[in-house]
Amino acid sequence: MEHYSVLLNEVIEGLNIREQGIYVDGTLGRGGHSSEILKRLSTGHLYSFDIDDEAFEASRSRLSQISDNFTLIKANFADMKEELNNRGIYGVDGILLDIGVSSPQFDEAGRGFSYRYEDSRLDMRMDRSQSLDAYQVVNEYDYSDLVRIFYRYGEETYAKQIARKIENERAKAPIETTGQLVEIIRSALPSKVVNRHKHPAKKVFQAIRIEVNGELENLERGLQSALDLLNPCGRLAVISFHSLEDQIIKNTFKTASQPPHFDKRIPVKEKDIALPEFQLITRKPITAGEAELQENHRSHSAKLRIIEKRG
Ligand SMILES: C[S@@+](CC[C@H](N)C(=O)[O-])C[C@H]1O[C@@H](n2cnc3c(N)ncnc32)[C@H](O)[C@@H]1O
Repeated sequence: MEHYSVLLNEVIEGLNIREQGIYVDGTLGRGGHSSEILKRLSTGHLYSFDIDDEAFEASRSRLSQISDNFTLIKANFADMKEELNNRGIYGVDGILLDIGVSSPQFDEAGRGFSYRYEDSRLDMRMDRSQSLDAYQVVNEYDYSDLVRIFYRYGEETYAKQIARKIENERAKAPIETTGQLVEIIRSALPSKVVNRHKHPAKKVFQAIRIEVNGELENLERGLQSALDLLNPCGRLAVISFHSLEDQIIKNTFKTASQPPHFDKRIPVKEKDIALPEFQLITRKPITAGEAELQENHRSHSAKLRIIEKRG
């Protein structure tokens, strides 16, 4: 399936791109957002990050057709500050994070992200050079760790029942494929849950993927790195796809845009109260409009939040 860039116009408008500016795309993917940023730069430069080797080939030729003002970096966006500092860049004018798995990653059976394919090896690594994969989580994590990640990252009500079933099954033989895992999950759930509209393995697959890729820790570190890098009037735009991510983004933006705390008993003149370093551009997240919702199923859960460093 062709990769569709979510909330493309909203991101481009929200970043308020200056043609001489320095921009960062922390999640290159197939380069949809990066292309639109690059088109708007004259003497500016774009640095695009990804941890998946497959992101680079397709997007490199796509971006080269626009201009040479870009650099592709294979690194975690959580490390963007160090990576850019190493290249002599200490401040940037805009940053995008479009987090999560891309459609090509989901759609390639061999990557093991999707419960739609039965015979995929349990993998789910975005960065295939890392060692932790879904096979290890499913076959080696102890019962209590499985319960913790299913509850916390999947918000799965039946975490304990599913973890127990996994433990019993892997004692007989290793659990190798996505199809086997789906069957184990199905058999652990009450029939009223199995027959619901949503796929019964959705939450557990989400939980394992988040664990394998350290997604929530990377997001927290990436947001901090990005805020540290912004120049005055620079903007950070973040698209997320589930509530655990959105909560982290919302809280980080709230803290960054709050006035510094001061003791109310000490009289301070209004002019002496420092303004917060950042201001929210979106009080409520931007979501996809009707036309995009019709075209792209993935956009249904997308939320875009934007914050700006004060000038
Ligand atoms: C939703 S896709 C981005 C799609 C992109 N905006 C486009 O228009 O084609 C997310 C991409 O971010 C990458 N990614 C996820 N977490 C990452 C991280 N911590 N550091 C760098 N890249 C990451 C994934 O490998 C994937 O290619």
